[in-house]
Amino acid sequence: MTTTMTQERFSTLEWGKVDLSRVPHVVVPPPGPRSQEYHQRCTKYFKGLSGQVKLFPVAFESGSGCVLRDVDGNEYIDFSSGIYVTTLGHCHPKISEAIARHARTLMNAHDFTTPIKTALMEKLAEVLPGDLSGFQLYDSGTAAVEAGMRVLRAASGKGEIISCFYDFHGKTYGAVSLGQIRSHVYGRVRAPGMHMVPRPDTYRPLWAQADGSIDTDKYIEFYGEYLDKATVGDVAGFCLEPIQGWGGSVMPPDDFFPKLRKFCDDRKILLMADEVLTSWGRTGKWLCMEHWGVVPDIVTLGKGFGNGFPVTCVAVRAPFKESFESISASSSYGGNPMACAAALASTEVIEEEHLNQWAEHLGELALTRMEKMKAEHPIVGDVRAKGCLMGIELVKDKATKEPFDKAGVLVYQKAFAKGLAWIPAGHILRMSPPIVMDEQTLLKGLEMIDEAIGEVEKEFGY
Ligand SMILES: Cc1ncc(COP(=O)(O)O)c(C=O)c1O
Repeated sequence: MTTTMTQERFSTLEWGKVDLSRVPHVVVPPPGPRSQEYHQRCTKYFKGLSGQVKLFPVAFESGSGCVLRDVDGNEYIDFSSGIYVTTLGHCHPKISEAIARHARTLMNAHDFTTPIKTALMEKLAEVLPGDLSGFQLYDSGTAAVEAGMRVLRAASGKGEIISCFYDFHGKTYGAVSLGQIRSHVYGRVRAPGMHMVPRPDTYRPLWAQADGSIDTDKYIEFYGEYLDKATVGDVAGFCLEPIQGWGGSVMPPDDFFPKLRKFCDDRKILLMADEVLTSWGRTGKWLCMEHWGVVPDIVTLGKGFGNGFPVTCVAVRAPFKESFESISASSSYGGNPMACAAALASTEVIEEEHLNQWAEHLGELALTRMEKMKAEHPIVGDVRAKGCLMGIELVKDKATKEPFDKAGVLVYQKAFAKGLAWIPAGHILRMSPPIVMDEQTLLKGLEMIDEAIGEVEKEFGY
């Protein structure tokens, strides 16, 4: 899509558009005095904050579209969408109105049928690829992953599950056992039957061809060996992220998922994609797997699915629909009318405003701008973007690729202080702007990051 394919077609952008003559607007260096006061009072009781809050403890008061306001009156361009959540911007009028309407009429009816749930089910069956047509609804990504694993086991009649190094799937015992974060694994024991294998990272290939490009076939060959030698022969399937979010926007090579799909079919095991982070427009498709023409057997949806309202989903292909019956699938909040209204309204906004195409366009624009940063900055090792899921990897030296964590922290803080709300992950800068953002605002945010990287390089004597 060219720039002249224009923003006029995308009327939501009028609402999401940022007045760059007014924003970012720093009236008092953040975190300002009111932020500090709220933060102190709140954290006397509220414990276990994420790293990003500890590194920049502002208190937010309101948000609209692509702009966040803190309690001191500072206004920020939003490059975080909460944490990959408010894909259509903060408080989208159509979504807020849909939630409010159902908050006034019926908040919960357990898993009884409601008109709004019926409408959502029909819409999901229409927009999802292939024969993904069996659904259940939950209230967190983690709950969806746990249910997805239960369906995976019920559908296959097998127990072991394979996931990948640096994947992240949530923080309950089953979900955490599929992921990398060691400190989350209670008692330091991974749940039995959970396996981890490496997955291809084009910037840091474990197995490469003679020309340095990644050798996907070697990974697939290794999975075959692993299944034969390291499992007890009871493998239900793979469960993995299409693009790693927490792992640092790590993109697979284009041939990976088609080859993994074939491998799973050949070995008669199932493929579950955890699309909690990557679905509903984030990468420019309903499912990120659509970029590679692959339909997973089971898929989880979350985060942007309800644009901020806690609603998530497990979707399965037609042959596995009945597996929900044997897992006692329902929950207290899953599929409540407000949740269904939020998910349906989000889906309609993406569809009506052609926002999947717009997100893809923003990703291409961002990648071109970030390639320039890579060419100009000695510490920018790699840049990547698929739609509005973006990453910049900072290294001490482009030849050794040694991660530069200290620089990552400083770049995060400096850009935040300039008025950019975003997400750090050690040496990988992660960006997740709302997909309703206009081009100029996207470029402004990237310029703020560019400046911050330059300042940090100076401090480290580059
Ligand atoms: C891929 C993936 N799966 C699952 C989860 C867990 O979702 P939640 O925090 O909504 O429980 C996350 C959260 O970041 C995620 O990125």
